[in-house]
Amino acid sequence: MAKDLSFTCANCGASHAKWSGRCEDCGAWNTISEDVPLAAGPSKKGLGAARGTPVPLGDLSSEDRPLARDLSGMGELDRVLGGGLVPASAILVGGDPGIGKSTLLLQAAAAFANAGVKAIYVSGEEAASQVRLRARRLGLAQAPVQLAAETNLRNILTTLEKEKPALAIIDSIQTMWLDTVDSAPGSVSQVRSVAHELTVFAKRHGISVILVGHVTKEGQIAGPRVVEHMVDTVLYFEGERGHQFRILRAVKNRFGPADEIGVFEMTGDGLTEVANPSALFLSDREAASPGSAVFAGIEGTRPVLCEIQALVSPAPAGQARRSVVGWDGSRLAMILAVLEARCGIPFAGLDVYLNVAGGLRVSEPAADLAVAAALLSAREDASLPRQTVVFGEISLSGTLRPVGQTETRLKEAAKLGFEAAIVPDRSKTGPAAGMKVQKMPDLAALVGDVFGAG
Ligand code: TYD
Ligand code: MG
Repeated sequence: MAKDLSFTCANCGASHAKWSGRCEDCGAWNTISEDVPLAAGPSKKGLGAARGTPVPLGDLSSEDRPLARDLSGMGELDRVLGGGLVPASAILVGGDPGIGKSTLLLQAAAAFANAGVKAIYVSGEEAASQVRLRARRLGLAQAPVQLAAETNLRNILTTLEKEKPALAIIDSIQTMWLDTVDSAPGSVSQVRSVAHELTVFAKRHGISVILVGHVTKEGQIAGPRVVEHMVDTVLYFEGERGHQFRILRAVKNRFGPADEIGVFEMTGDGLTEVANPSALFLSDREAASPGSAVFAGIEGTRPVLCEIQALVSPAPAGQARRSVVGWDGSRLAMILAVLEARCGIPFAGLDVYLNVAGGLRVSEPAADLAVAAALLSAREDASLPRQTVVFGEISLSGTLRPVGQTETRLKEAAKLGFEAAIVPDRSKTGPAAGMKVQKMPDLAALVGDVFGAG
């Protein structure tokens, strides 16, 4: 039988048909190795008979009840999952080492167990006694969670088969190994094979699995993208080490909206949920000051207000800096170019720093106008009107485009005590919850009206 060989780069996860010393995709040297084929073909236990046999698309018999979901009672987690845990689903939770993944999942295991979902937490990183100690510190010692410290996947699968939990948490995928794969735990082939075995096993036995994965510095899950394709849901747990905020973000979800976020705060007693993130992100804000604008954003299905801060200062000749945290650098370059070309406000010879306060990452184009307002405010050394939120997309011509969910944004702002909003012309504001809404056709209008410059 001809053997199909394939090779995978340990650095970027790219597949190649033949071995070579250097990966053509990422350029790394000596990272390519041969894949060990995954178990395939008809199942030995005769389970495969009905599998793979086509059925009519409209057949709503037996297995296809509407998705029943298990709720953990941790509201932030349930929402990010798309409204609870779908039985027999596979979830990957990625994040930097030390960000709090184990803490989150131990709390999640306890929450699910308390809600009547039989949960097993398998740690490959810590001894059972260590996990138990942590559980006690988190006040979870009484939760009916089963605990196992094991790295050999064969033993884990045997245990799961015997215990038949509804949820198995594997912490972490990088510590697990299969004895049929001839490479070290954490290598691409091990991670891939372990994830494959676990997801197939879980689907077959109706067990949900949550795989924990450490992310490399480049922001990829080590061992890596291949796992993302195997699972139903990919969540990232992110945040700044120095900040207490942690954000659980869905980047892929077969059972719910992607881009949903859950917000947590890391405290001495573990993670606590933040039900009102806007209030948290705005809590450290000083009174309206130059270079600050409040953006009324939407994260997933929920409005979130955050502060955008800009600083503009003279640069040493010929080396102006553009530095961005929490927002897209090329989007900043675009807005600076529009301000210069359409409004005659140059930023040449000036260092520009932009920061989304609180460690949030904003990716909505709706933040354009708030970014522009913060930049203008910093450059003109003039504060924006008090208690005002800003949102809208900016086009290259300098005109402002309305964005989705205008009313939701305004309502959230009103709830938090904001009194005015600056939005694009043609925005569908409806009855704006008592807000004073200023509609602007283009960026030049913002410059003229608000800053009296331009
Ligand atoms: P951990 O969950 O072990 O991170 P990960 O699994 O992502 O590597 O979290 C480790 C950090 O969290 C550690 O630096 C200490 C901090 N922490 C708290 O601040 N409070 C707590 O109650 C716990 C359990 C951890
Ligand atoms: Mg951990």
